[in-house]
Amino acid sequence: MVNTTPHTGRYVLQKPVFFIGFMGAGKTSVSQQIAVTCGVASIDADEYLELREDRIIANIFAEDGEEAFRDIETDVLRDLAGRSPRLIGCGGGVVTKRPENAEIMKNAGFVVYLKVSADGAAARIPNTDSRPMFKNLETARKTIVERAPQYEAAASASVETEGRTIREVADEVVSILLREGIMIDTKA
Ligand code: S3P
Repeated sequence: MVNTTPHTGRYVLQKPVFFIGFMGAGKTSVSQQIAVTCGVASIDADEYLELREDRIIANIFAEDGEEAFRDIETDVLRDLAGRSPRLIGCGGGVVTKRPENAEIMKNAGFVVYLKVSADGAAARIPNTDSRPMFKNLETARKTIVERAPQYEAAASASVETEGRTIREVADEVVSILLREGIMIDTKA
């Protein structure tokens, strides 16, 4: 486990770290937790996309459809992959419709798959209306089964989140990043 005091400058990312997994897996929360604990930069790819497009995702889906959203998502991924290393929480469908997305992430950095079940995800998502792809629990269960092999194939490492706190998951991810040399402890 890492020290709980923020250590700006102590931990340094060598490459971008992409968090993938189903909606509600904790991609944003875990990357924010690590950002605070280790003093490294993080960004949520969907929030960045919404700011860049000046529209919320639900409206992009409603007005232009999923294909248009996926085009923008790939463009945003390329943009973030080319910037200085940071933790990047990706949208849940990032590896499902555009095979090049997994290539972009693997070529630029390290990919962490956060695993969750549909029921576990539903318990964590307060308002599924903002997630056009969640629809309902039954569909979410099917979608997770369909997507699991794609998440596994794109992942450099997988971490179970079911029944665990954000803090516990974040600590495991930090251990992996340190072990793999993706994050360096300059005081070690
Ligand atoms: C999607 C997940 C969402 C968002 C969009 C599509 C998906 O991201 O990118 O609604 O296809 O699973 P989160 O996983 O951050 O909710």
